[in-house]
Amino acid sequence: MSKNNFEVEIREMIIDDIPSVFHLGEKLFTPQDFPNLYRTWDEYEVVSYFTNEPELCMVACIKERVVGFVMGYSVEKARSAWSYGHLVWLGVAEDYQRMGVAQKLFNRFRDKMEEDRIRILLIDTQADNLAAIKFFKKQGFSDPTEHVYLALNLDESRR
Ligand SMILES: CC(C)(COP(=O)(O)OP(=O)(O)OC[C@H]1O[C@@H](n2cnc3c(N)ncnc32)[C@H](O)[C@@H]1OP(=O)(O)O)[C@@H](O)C(=O)NCCC(=O)NCCS
Repeated sequence: MSKNNFEVEIREMIIDDIPSVFHLGEKLFTPQDFPNLYRTWDEYEVVSYFTNEPELCMVACIKERVVGFVMGYSVEKARSAWSYGHLVWLGVAEDYQRMGVAQKLFNRFRDKMEEDRIRILLIDTQADNLAAIKFFKKQGFSDPTEHVYLALNLDESRR
């Protein structure tokens, strides 16, 4: 499909979008791809971001079908001039990838952050998620910092 063959509408998420966003995320964020608890995709994830900061939850629609979404939150640190935004989930249906849909979602998310006077925007993703890393580098994100997740199996580690 050519990039010019369809119109993408970016709008704020509404309550009726929750099932579509959840099922799309189920296809994109599989446990193998996102194997830590911090990155567990479930229906509570969608509901809690939508409940907390609905204006930072947006969907991309083509002919009224949800084909992408972005969700995040903002943080004001006490006694600090810095305010942060965290883009937590960004996903585009496989059939519509590489057509600029995520770019449109990100632009709208960023505009909203700027409107809210957020100064630092953060994202995180798995180190092997090259598509996401390339996407975010194109947006100007830099200085990747590595985090290490460790797991302790409490059943097996008893002395
Ligand atoms: C990452 C993701 C959101 C990108 O969505 P998309 O709609 O395909 O991205 P866009 O078409 O807007 O891409 C914009 C630019 O990002 C880069 N990019 C996006 N996908 C890429 C890929 N698979 N490989 C290399 N570069 C890529 C390119 O520079 C692209 O511009 P170009 O097509 O003109 O070369 C999509 O691949 C996805 O949903 N992945 C699964 C979920 C995920 O990992 N989300 C991110 C972490 S929350």
